[in-house]
Amino acid sequence: MDRRSYLKALGASGAALTLAGCTSNGGGDGSTTTGSTTTGSTTSGTQQTRIVAGTAPGFQPFEMIQDGELVGFDIDLLEAVVEQADGYTLQGWEQYEFGSLIQALTTDKIDTIAAGMTITEKRKESIGFTNPYWDANQALLVREGSSFQPQSLEDLAGHKVGAQSGTTGEGLIQDLIDEGTLAESNYNAYPKYPLAVSDLENGNIDAVVIDTPVAETFVDSRDVVVSATVDTGEQYGFGVRQNDGDLESALNGGLEAVRDNGTYADLTKKWFASGGTTTTSE
Ligand code: ARG
Repeated sequence: MDRRSYLKALGASGAALTLAGCTSNGGGDGSTTTGSTTTGSTTSGTQQTRIVAGTAPGFQPFEMIQDGELVGFDIDLLEAVVEQADGYTLQGWEQYEFGSLIQALTTDKIDTIAAGMTITEKRKESIGFTNPYWDANQALLVREGSSFQPQSLEDLAGHKVGAQSGTTGEGLIQDLIDEGTLAESNYNAYPKYPLAVSDLENGNIDAVVIDTPVAETFVDSRDVVVSATVDTGEQYGFGVRQNDGDLESALNGGLEAVRDNGTYADLTKKWFASGGTTTTSE
């Protein structure tokens, strides 16, 4: 079989490929280990399905733009995971608003989501998830020095509150609205969390509901503090299409491999140990 009909055959098997010769980006420079696979899945001639990952930067330290470049824990982790995932290589990254990622996945614009996305029953109605790779709760973020120090979600009643559209943080606020605790007019939805935090600093809103690890990054870098946390017991997973069980298992295998080979611990140290002020050079 020549290369063209080989690629055609791959495409016909439902693999949605857009090949352009060699790797463009993100194809294997993210991790530092070599030679830990013994299955030969990376040798040339073996069928490799190229996948495109989607993310939503503005969620530090998981994904953000630094010096014009997409970086973060999720970016490094997924790249390392795919490198260890049998039969797959990462073609590159596409950026979406968080609330559009699931649709981008189900309409084949991307093949996986790496965006600090919480595994929820609701989302599982439309997409699948890998095994969890991170735990989080929700934090109530307020202005530094503010006299408003909400200790619970209910304390948000009568105040202006913000969150990112489509997030679980927004879901908590929506519940407050649905049960009549918070007036709908007191909720501001933002396309990205950094905009919500700016509005908080400016006094346009009084609190932001946001994932704990990201709240901590903002505490380090902006004039905000956490007044309380809400124990939601969330877990992040990589999103995959429901009919893409092969990719799901391959990514789960990759996750296990990066935990075993130390890469997961290295990346945790790189992005979380020093208060979120890491640069990407090694
Ligand atoms: N964990 C939350 C959720 O799943 C927030 C995720 C926001 N992620 C992002 N990349 N902006 O809804």
